[in-house]
Amino acid sequence: MGRNGPRHDAGREGRHVTIAHNPLRDPRDKRLPRVAGPCVLVLFGVTGDLSRKKLLPAIYDLANRGLLPPGFSLVGFARRAWEHEDFRQIAYDSVKQYARTPFREDVWRHLAEGIHFVPGEFSDPGAFEALAMALKELDQTRGTGGNYAFYLSIPPKFFPQVVEQLQSAGLADRSEGAWRRVVIEKPFGHDLASAIELNDTVHRVFPEESIFRIDHYLGKETVQNILALRFANEMFEPIWNRSYVDHVQITMAEDIGIGGRAGYYDGIGAARDVIQNHLLQLLALTAMEPPTSFSAEAVRAEKAKVLSAVRIPSDLSLATARGQYAAGWQGGVKVRGYLEEEGIPADSRTETYAAVKLEIGNRRWAGVPFYLRTGKRLSRRVTEVAVLFQRAPHLPFSETDTEELGQNALVIRVQPDEGITVRFGSKVPGSSMEVRDVNMDFAYGESFTESSPEAYERLLLDVLIGDPPLFPRQEEVELSWRILDPVVEHWSRQRRIDQYKSGGYGPDSADELMARDGRAWRRL
Ligand code: BG6
Repeated sequence: MGRNGPRHDAGREGRHVTIAHNPLRDPRDKRLPRVAGPCVLVLFGVTGDLSRKKLLPAIYDLANRGLLPPGFSLVGFARRAWEHEDFRQIAYDSVKQYARTPFREDVWRHLAEGIHFVPGEFSDPGAFEALAMALKELDQTRGTGGNYAFYLSIPPKFFPQVVEQLQSAGLADRSEGAWRRVVIEKPFGHDLASAIELNDTVHRVFPEESIFRIDHYLGKETVQNILALRFANEMFEPIWNRSYVDHVQITMAEDIGIGGRAGYYDGIGAARDVIQNHLLQLLALTAMEPPTSFSAEAVRAEKAKVLSAVRIPSDLSLATARGQYAAGWQGGVKVRGYLEEEGIPADSRTETYAAVKLEIGNRRWAGVPFYLRTGKRLSRRVTEVAVLFQRAPHLPFSETDTEELGQNALVIRVQPDEGITVRFGSKVPGSSMEVRDVNMDFAYGESFTESSPEAYERLLLDVLIGDPPLFPRQEEVELSWRILDPVVEHWSRQRRIDQYKSGGYGPDSADELMARDGRAWRRL
């Protein structure tokens, strides 16, 4: 077949799918792309922010990259009296505003033909029967083969109801040769007990291999690159342990507040929202032992092993810090404090900043603290994993010449300035032997011409292909709650919560946590 003809690829589902020629694809790229086979994606929660800002644009971007099959269909389900055309318009607007790849009329038109809407309440069995009928029809008209992925981008309290309705409408039973998958957005419960309960409910309907738990951090290129950095290279492994590493800092700082998410956020807080999932996943990837392969089994087993070795120091008041953003200035704009945000009770004690010190009880990491912090309304948006090394055991230079020499560091810059920095000491040009810290940088933007796909593009494609390594399994979810539950419980017994200035660096108690260990957070 010539360059402009259709290409064929054997997907994981064992089918050959025809990919329309995509002029956006680099013709020099000889690797066969991973392409989804025939299927329908059913989106619950299409009126939410996630759907509008991330999911719908990601679906378009996948279509634009030629990674969706020709008959791919998207069905929105919500409590709105919409026609198909209304939902298409919503999707169109969000694609226009948020898609990563350029807008192309032909791609959009083709995608829009497969966009449908089913109105209904989660509590109404009739609505799910209508959904089942709509899906059957799509199988006939668009050749989607009975393969359905149900994406629950809805408040967790509705998860049980929706999966049960799917079961009653016969939508969870796979027919001959077809697949059914359910995609669950975090939070997976709000503590260990509720996570187990949620899992039991979903398991009553879907088998484990059909359940895809989304932690969108795992879809980020820079997060996957932690595995490449550690396991595709030889030079880091010998020093990646307690003999050389002094401590590790994992930071996810945001400059935004809670926006319009008061209903979700209050009562959840920063530790449950971010540490339980994103930051503990980053910790697991940074600290895990080498997996034997990139198979879901191997990767998840190593992550679970290291998570099960994580300990939190017994004196929680010394090992944790939390705070709430107060009013302040951010980027020249006056912003409200958390307690003044719409929908937040004036006496709320929910934390918008959380920091914890963790230890890993295994041979590689014994005695090396891992400090995790996250917060909203901080000075800037940055997510990074910083591995800080011990100081050289002996410096053959004068003390004054090395005054400005810090610790060597390897910093994985997850976002926004994606890349890796290595910090080391270097001689300052001149006649003395003055040594000062310098940085050596790798930047994605400079080394690669391809722009990074959005996390949701990668994860949605993996769901449709049925490729699970980037999705946490239940064991990881439970181990993470096991680490965090005592912290949240400890905080719930405290009457007051520290305030920190919007646009600043977080509460003083977080600095004190580090100072007690003779250390300091990296500057935001
Ligand atoms: C979500 C949290 O999981 O991640 C949000 O619920 C947070 O509170 C968001 O703002 C940050 O994601 P990203 O990809 O912008 O770092």
